[in-house]
Amino acid sequence: MDVARAADQATAPTSGTASATDIASMTWDAYASAPSTATGPNADKIKRGKYVATIAGCNDCHTPFKMGPTGPEPDLSRMLSGHPEQLGSMPQAGAPGAAPGPTNTRFSGPWGVSFTANLTPDVETGLGQWTFRNFKDTIRSGRHMGRGRPVLPPMPIMMYKHMTDEDLEALFTYLQTIPAIRNRVPEPLPPATEAAVAATPSS
Ligand code: HEC
Repeated sequence: MDVARAADQATAPTSGTASATDIASMTWDAYASAPSTATGPNADKIKRGKYVATIAGCNDCHTPFKMGPTGPEPDLSRMLSGHPEQLGSMPQAGAPGAAPGPTNTRFSGPWGVSFTANLTPDVETGLGQWTFRNFKDTIRSGRHMGRGRPVLPPMPIMMYKHMTDEDLEALFTYLQTIPAIRNRVPEPLPPATEAAVAATPSS
């Protein structure tokens, strides 16, 4: 079933068969089952990488959500491009405290405020300059490129570090084939900043 039909069902007065969860998952189904255009020697690896990205939920946090006819849905025109630059780093109206905000790309907690990274191959703002080694070292160690600052929650490093080399390589190969999107994600904010922002009555 395609997304348009799902939306029709949702608004049809007689529907009653598609739950909100069904509808949300249909958007994902469209993503996951879209035919892979990959060809050449890496085609199988790319297909595997897309599968890993799908089941590991990279899109849940790294693709900004938008409001669709049936509620929030991933904005696939900005697939895996991270927290939108134009939203900046400050809390968005209506998203106080630990709420991730309408795009589901901004997360606050005891660690401060983190913003999901741009995973597209854009050279300046994404992973375009990364080698597989950079990627693997980041995921395995939980530090930026294996030696920089710790990667903040809620990036599920503790789970992903157990991926096999084969899956990590497929995932990285796939990420390097998706459309490059220029989007400079803000730097994370330290915990004190968030507390100060939360304490400001006008924010
Ligand atoms: C629950 C939310 C969540 C999920 C799911 C998630 N990420 Fe992240 N990811 C984040 C956040 C938040 C950051 C930014 C962390 C920071 O600034 O330290 C991040 C950062 C990253 C970075 C940049 C690390 C760096 O040091 O530059 C990479 C690479 C990454 N994620 C890859 C992935 C991949 C690949 C997947 C799927 C297998 C994934 N993420 C799934 C939340 C998530």
